[in-house]
Amino acid sequence: MLRLAVLGSGSGSNCQSIFNAIKEGRLDAEVVLVLSDNPDAYILERARLNGVPAEVMDCGGYKNKFPLEVQAAVAQKLKELKVDMVCLAGFMRLVKEPLLSAFPRRILNIHPALLPSFPGVEAWRQALEAGATQAGCTVHYVDAGMDTGEIIMQAYVPVLPDDTPESLHARIQVQEHILYPAAILSALSRL
Ligand code: GAR
Repeated sequence: MLRLAVLGSGSGSNCQSIFNAIKEGRLDAEVVLVLSDNPDAYILERARLNGVPAEVMDCGGYKNKFPLEVQAAVAQKLKELKVDMVCLAGFMRLVKEPLLSAFPRRILNIHPALLPSFPGVEAWRQALEAGATQAGCTVHYVDAGMDTGEIIMQAYVPVLPDDTPESLHARIQVQEHILYPAAILSALSRL
């Protein structure tokens, strides 16, 4: 059974979609650990509700930085747990060394835009403000850049004339929840 870890900072609806895919037999894997940099994140509660161990990473009060020593400790923990694939699900810090090289081509991210367009925060809002007619989501391998790694799968979401940032993000999330488990399965099959 392939072993996943999920890292997230927020609600964890994508993490839930992974739990659901496993329960429903669409993804032959198990989540062995959920980690969050935010002690109040609902993703931690989702993990508990699904019987998955959950822990908080203490990033020392930095808002965006993912301190090197924290990344090293996470890498060691995930190695000890024999994790095969690390899934970022709404994780809002940049993964760098030494975590990256501990899991080469084994860290995935889901991003709410059709990369390479609109990397960074609130990508759905960026798409709307740029007047894009097509939005969507992307699952990609994580490299040292921001949302720049090799693309695994994408899903398209049309932008509607009366869309608000919230309505567009909600429709993108519906697609994310289908896309992420399918892309994880695809990446696992390439290991
Ligand atoms: C998702 O839309 C995800 O694509 C986005 O954060 C949201 C997390 O939602 N990630 C990024 O913007 C990363 N650059 P969730 O906590 O409900 O899964």
